[in-house]
Amino acid sequence: MLKIGVIGCGAIGAQICRAIDSGAINAKLTAIYDRSDKHCEMLLESLKIRPVVSLPAELIKNADIVVECASQAAVGEHGLCVLNGGKDLMIMSVGALMDQKLLDDLVNSAKSNNCKIYIPSGAISGIDGLRSAKIASIDRVEISTIKNPKGLEGAPFMIENNIDPYSFQKKTMIFNGNAKEAVKAFPANVNVAASLSLAGIGFEKTRVKVFVDPKISRNIHEIRVEGDFGNFTSRIENIPSKDNPRTSLLAALSAIATLKKITEPLQIGT
Ligand SMILES: NC(=O)c1ccc[n+]([C@@H]2O[C@H](COP(=O)([O-])OP(=O)(O)OC[C@H]3O[C@@H](n4cnc5c(N)ncnc54)[C@H](O)[C@@H]3O)[C@@H](O)[C@H]2O)c1
Repeated sequence: MLKIGVIGCGAIGAQICRAIDSGAINAKLTAIYDRSDKHCEMLLESLKIRPVVSLPAELIKNADIVVECASQAAVGEHGLCVLNGGKDLMIMSVGALMDQKLLDDLVNSAKSNNCKIYIPSGAISGIDGLRSAKIASIDRVEISTIKNPKGLEGAPFMIENNIDPYSFQKKTMIFNGNAKEAVKAFPANVNVAASLSLAGIGFEKTRVKVFVDPKISRNIHEIRVEGDFGNFTSRIENIPSKDNPRTSLLAALSAIATLKKITEPLQIGT
């Protein structure tokens, strides 16, 4: 049975652990780690079969795959140790991979240790079609993110340009640039921009538009891909996780689905 270690016991980590605990994933949760003891304790209390709480080095030793669902810093702190230890790695804080050197080091280590790095689709839909499309040639990848004014409050772009998100009466575009620029302007979009760019045509070429809409309550992402295959549009309206309003429920579900895919014999989807 696949042995899983989880680093980060927040909204996503807790949901993954509970999915293993309930038998939804056919695997054993061997160890958890979080820099907050309180988060570990709260999670343990919600589990029927309790894993050990151990420091990362011990956790890595006792797992076949380590799931990072902590922070971008945690990817830098533990990612290479996981792969150098001969274990597979799943990364949720995918924004960390905008650091090209870190990405190269992780991929090289995975190659030389015969390991895999898994990046679930996270809070967006359409990565499957994008991966297939990339086998031929892709002309354009564009994501339009539409948020309620509250979701844009405090973003560097809003502050630097003195834009009050509450001053709009209807859906209005406030940003149009590439993924690299978008991540600096709206850091909250970093994981979505990173997953899309890595799966498709990179940070420079991936186009990002950000809209404010006072009439919506969910985070909406519309992805448009054009290439040799034709084109597709994917639209998702995300409900936030109840444990962390900044995280979409679908992100945790995508991690659970990826772990299921690793453990199950029938593989559906690209
Ligand atoms: N791929 C996606 O689409 C997507 C979507 C949502 C969130 N995320 C990312 O996934 C990660 C987890 O999200 P979440 O909603 O569960 O966050 P959260 O804040 O609810 O939980 C994070 C947990 O990790 C712990 N932690 C943080 N840094 C750590 C470190 N260096 N070492 C050990 N523990 C550490 C925190 O104490 C906390 O318990 C975040 O980085 C978030 O940006 C990715």
